Amino acid sequence: MPQPSVLITGCSSGIGRALAEAFASAGYTVWATARRPEDVAQLQQAGFHAAQLDVNDAEGITALIARLEDQLDGLDVLINNAGYGAMGPLLDGGVEALRRQFETNVFAVVGLTRACFPLLRRKRGLVVNIGSISAVLVTPFAGAYCASKAALHALSDALRLELAPFAIEVMEVQPGAIASSFGANASREAEQLIREDSPWWPLREGIRARARASQDNPTPARHLAHQLLTAVQSDRRPRLLRLGNGSRTLPLLATLLPRALLERLLSRRFGLTERL
Ligand SMILES: NC(=O)c1ccc[n+]([C@@H]2O[C@H](COP(=O)([O-])OP(=O)(O)OC[C@H]3O[C@@H](n4cnc5c(N)ncnc54)[C@H](OP(=O)(O)O)[C@@H]3O)[C@@H](O)[C@H]2O)c1
Repeated sequence: MPQPSVLITGCSSGIGRALAEAFASAGYTVWATARRPEDVAQLQQAGFHAAQLDVNDAEGITALIARLEDQLDGLDVLINNAGYGAMGPLLDGGVEALRRQFETNVFAVVGLTRACFPLLRRKRGLVVNIGSISAVLVTPFAGAYCASKAALHALSDALRLELAPFAIEVMEVQPGAIASSFGANASREAEQLIREDSPWWPLREGIRARARASQDNPTPARHLAHQLLTAVQSDRRPRLLRLGNGSRTLPLLATLLPRALLERLLSRRFGLTERL
């Protein structure tokens, strides 16, 4: 039996790195990608097939697919994991921040999946999209991020239907709080917008709290990775997986609580009750 293969984006840290380790330990040939050369070197040293890929780089995608075509007879699993949180007030970031957020979290997923389609078709493969519970429970100061993940969820549903005739499956993962560099990266994004001339300057501690929120009591990334691996290997793969702390309770809050009460709770949590 040839080893099954998996391509994972965003393996420099967190969920991507944990997935690379979990799939390798289960006998997969793991193609792990990262955008910085030092991270690629690290992945190579760890024994993965490592490749440099910024998911927004169309030429980089073409070069990667050429390598995969050369070395694999098809692709069993594609995991679209790379992503970040463009945190901060929606109007402070404006269209530019929203566009950048969608480039990475949404458009790049379609671009890479499209490029992988011939390889996936040969193996009747699986596409796994890492979404977020933030698409289900929308919070302030994360509008661009929540919208990008909601868009990804909708695209995953459409893809599932459109790829079914080719026996390619699509699984969507909605993680809750998972230990990773996500909070540190989101905080860096938020700090770029926290400026004295912003109308939201007095609310800056709420912005900071939202940027850090994913790292409040998080589930270790390796737990998510092992649960996801089990789901990928099962005979009846789930369409949707909610994994990690808060991934089950937050959607319940979003559907069961009256909207006005939910908004009051979110306003209090992120310091939005003051009139400015
Ligand atoms: N952690 C959570 O609580 C949580 C919850 C829900 C969903 N998620 C989702 O899980 C996924 C993985 O995040 P994480 O928690 O593991 O955070 P992380 O540790 O920050 O990892 C994110 C990865 O994505 C990569 N990345 C970002 N932009 C990229 C680009 N343009 N091209 C290629 N790679 C890029 C990062 O690379 P660099 O190191 O080069 O920046 C890093 O490898 C994301 O899609 C995130 O939205 C996370």
